[in-house]
Amino acid sequence: MKFRLATAAPWWRPANGNLLRIQGGRPLVGTYPISGAKNAVLPLMVSALLTPHLVTLRNVPANLDVAVLAALLQRLGCEMHWSTRAGDLALTLSADRIRPTGIDADLVARMRASVLLLGALLARCGEARLPMPGGDAIGLRAIDFHIAGLRAMGAVVALEGGLIHAKAPAGLHGADILLPQPSVGATENLLLAAVLADGTTTIRNAAREPEITDLAACLITMGAGITGLGSHVLTVTGGRALAGAVHGVMPDRIELGTLACAAAMTDGELMLPHGRLDLLGTAAESFAAAGVDLRETEGGLIARRANAGLCGIDITTQPFPGFATDLQAPTMALLTLAAGASTISETIFEQRFRHVDELRKMGADIAVHGRTARVRGVDRLRGAAVTCTDVRAAAALVLGALAASGETVLDGLDHLDRGYDRMTGKLAACGAAIVRTDG
Ligand code: UD1
Repeated sequence: MKFRLATAAPWWRPANGNLLRIQGGRPLVGTYPISGAKNAVLPLMVSALLTPHLVTLRNVPANLDVAVLAALLQRLGCEMHWSTRAGDLALTLSADRIRPTGIDADLVARMRASVLLLGALLARCGEARLPMPGGDAIGLRAIDFHIAGLRAMGAVVALEGGLIHAKAPAGLHGADILLPQPSVGATENLLLAAVLADGTTTIRNAAREPEITDLAACLITMGAGITGLGSHVLTVTGGRALAGAVHGVMPDRIELGTLACAAAMTDGELMLPHGRLDLLGTAAESFAAAGVDLRETEGGLIARRANAGLCGIDITTQPFPGFATDLQAPTMALLTLAAGASTISETIFEQRFRHVDELRKMGADIAVHGRTARVRGVDRLRGAAVTCTDVRAAAALVLGALAASGETVLDGLDHLDRGYDRMTGKLAACGAAIVRTDG
């Protein structure tokens, strides 16, 4: 596995050390570079399968999910060229000659976004064979909306023995699709399929996450006809042959919100380049209410703790522009140190409180009832040995550790590496006492 990742993504170095040691209590001060968005770059990489021409992505985050998807695309025959200029990682993909089969089960099992290969391969090759996708253990994460949408576009989909086999011998055709729930992945999958399908596709109750708009913008550069960007109804005029494109990946709004919490929790001040309040949706207001002071400047967002200190708030996760489920865990870490009580309701994923037990080991006062967590602020967290259970839980534990007294030792770092580009080095550059070591 490691060998294949290094072939597909030569910049990927299995990080030295399976433990992260953080001596907490130091304010984070300085500039923390915000990377390209993990959740945008993955569908963008898949979009390159739709054309025989070159697609170049700039501002690509150097994380494990990108390396895994690169390895998957390479198995499909996609050629890749990486370059770095002034710290900007760029990827050029050529899907001139690809085959729709041969996808590794162990790679797919590592990443749910691999399901996006289904729509793109069906549209380009008329066939796709894919093991059931994996990803974080945070809930059912079914793919029934994806399958129903592709079937409405004429695909014949069979699920057998853990494999998805989809065919569209006569090609895909446009359809009027109503998503039961605004699913990010289903919206992206159907968008990828629809741009090459014959006729018009309407995706109703589409998700509105900025990463979808970023994907649509790249597809439009490639020549696709898409209207309704940023709204609940996307209309795609399909069937146009797509050209290549050069596209800069949008900033990672989850990294942005996470580091804003870190600045406030450690009573430091961080400049978050390219950060904008609109990327955070209603989380910007929630953060302000909780005492995370965010100032928008030309260069990005400046984050610090408000003079009045941190105070408890109530949040409910919702599709964009509502409070992002991906910011729920980091925000819970913040609220463990806020004056008073907070209530956090998780409505998107049913098992997304796995960080709670770990935060409790650090002295947090959190009670969970079903999908609601009640957090009572404590004066301080203390260092402990904790385990990362999913990508955003990992970020929450890093935040807790940065603010805690004493040393925290984190394991399960694959989860952190999946979603965060060079986090250890970036935090150290802002004054954190953080090292990666062998256990
Ligand atoms: C994406 C993000 C993830 C984020 C999530 C919600 C990527 C790579 N991942 O995940 O970081 O937490 O959006 O913002 O972009 N559902 C179904 N059937 C389906 C599809 C979804 O029941 O066919 C349900 C899911 O179980 C979940 C909800 O819909 O309860 C939302 O999931 P979805 O928006 O699809 O999340 P992902 O695209 O997997």
